[in-house]
Amino acid sequence: MATGAVRLAVSDGTFTIQNNCAVTIWLGVVSNAGIQPLTLDNTMLSTGQTMTVTTPSNWGGRFWGRTGCSRGTDGTFTCAMGDCDGREQCTVGGKPPATLVEFTLSGYANKDFYDVSLVDGYNLPMAVSPDGGGQGRNATDTKSCGAAGCTGDLNRNCPAALQVTGTGNVVGCRSACDAFKEPQYCCTGENALPTTCKPTDYSKAFKQSCPNAYSYAYDDLSSTFTCMGGRYTIVFCPTATDL
Ligand SMILES: *[C@@H]1O[C@H](CO)[C@@H](O)[C@H](O)[C@H]1NC(C)=O
Repeated sequence: MATGAVRLAVSDGTFTIQNNCAVTIWLGVVSNAGIQPLTLDNTMLSTGQTMTVTTPSNWGGRFWGRTGCSRGTDGTFTCAMGDCDGREQCTVGGKPPATLVEFTLSGYANKDFYDVSLVDGYNLPMAVSPDGGGQGRNATDTKSCGAAGCTGDLNRNCPAALQVTGTGNVVGCRSACDAFKEPQYCCTGENALPTTCKPTDYSKAFKQSCPNAYSYAYDDLSSTFTCMGGRYTIVFCPTATDL
């Protein structure tokens, strides 16, 4: 028997995904560039259901919720919101607007980085928090092992110019970048630097409904959380106790 081999214990990422919304959600997940794609055993989460997604320890990528999905006779799988090129297993990000939960596991200093992003707009309320309080919490850092996300319904508070309507009601809120394609909203061109891309009235409206989510590309100081341990719970339609 081989002896003497020292293996560092690097644990996989474990994500518990919970649907507290009144509607059925099909989970969307896509890995970052250069990270191995995930294949989910199942994508559908009925109201009240929970699923577990396991990833490699160094995984990075994003989760979102798709709604109004169905499989066509031609085999495509299309969703009214958050669709990923007509596939059940996403290989590209969801069609905006879609609320995102973003992760980099075991990044700089072996920390996990996570946030809720409204940079691609908003469709469903989402929250994310480390299981059991997480590992390596720094009590003097409010962004250490905290809960990210919001309970507020941004669809209700969406500026008129950004609203996406479904059957009579607002089902999504576009980002100002997606809606207007202008440098000051997209942080492109002369607004391409953190110092030149500032909050706008639109990003401020997002921020008001969802204070600790990313509202535009360079919003990172107030929105990125760090923790360790690789175990997190993501809730769709969270209540105050999930935050
Ligand atoms: C904890 O957070 C505070 C505030 O951000 C920081 O100054 C300090 O260096 C951190 N401590 C450790 C051990 O990382």
